[in-house]
Amino acid sequence: MIKARYVIFDGLDGSGKTTQMMLLEKKFGSLVIFTREPGGTLLAGKIRGILLGDSFGSQMTSLTRFLLFWAAREELQQRVVVPALRSGKHVFSDRGDSSTFAFQLYAEGHQELIDTFFWMGKAGVREGSRRRPPDLYVILDLPAEVALKRAKQRRTTNHFDRQMFEYHEKVRDGFHKFAEYAPVEFVDASQTSEEIHHGILKILARRVAIS
Ligand code: TYD
Repeated sequence: MIKARYVIFDGLDGSGKTTQMMLLEKKFGSLVIFTREPGGTLLAGKIRGILLGDSFGSQMTSLTRFLLFWAAREELQQRVVVPALRSGKHVFSDRGDSSTFAFQLYAEGHQELIDTFFWMGKAGVREGSRRRPPDLYVILDLPAEVALKRAKQRRTTNHFDRQMFEYHEKVRDGFHKFAEYAPVEFVDASQTSEEIHHGILKILARRVAIS
């Protein structure tokens, strides 16, 4: 039986992640369960609405936001990720805890939450829920300036997209800092979609034997 792998795809808003997820879906189809954070279950979807919507999203404190992202993640883990991996399917997620690290801890300046961050990651495991950490993070990397320009061309934006340049620079630094703690591969996202796609496929074959 194949070893089911859990891979997170992450990057700045405007890094071309959505296009890459679509290309991966086309390539791997039913071999892989595709999901996203925040979201992926009914309750996590509702939390997503609160986090990204304008009524509360921009007003809550960073700690509230941090906790809500973890609440949505816990839901997704228990209802989608753990069952999928146990049934032998790979899981590819559009964003994951790497975003919480880069956005909430790093860009929003709450590095005092770092111990809580790692504790949260382990909490499910301690409770015997069979949760396991991702095998790999693939992060689409490009200068914040370029990513922001691209994100602005999209029809809809959320309050994270509307943050200033410095914030997105810090998010990028946050992803690089995250690589000190987790198995991360960066892909140069200033390349064409096709080049990025091929780069990702090579990484998946080399790091987690998915091809
Ligand atoms: P979304 O519209 O899904 O953005 P994208 O298409 O770029 O992934 O919105 C998700 C937003 O939530 C995105 O701006 C990043 C942010 N986010 C966090 O701040 N922390 C987190 O833990 C996660 C998962 C996302």
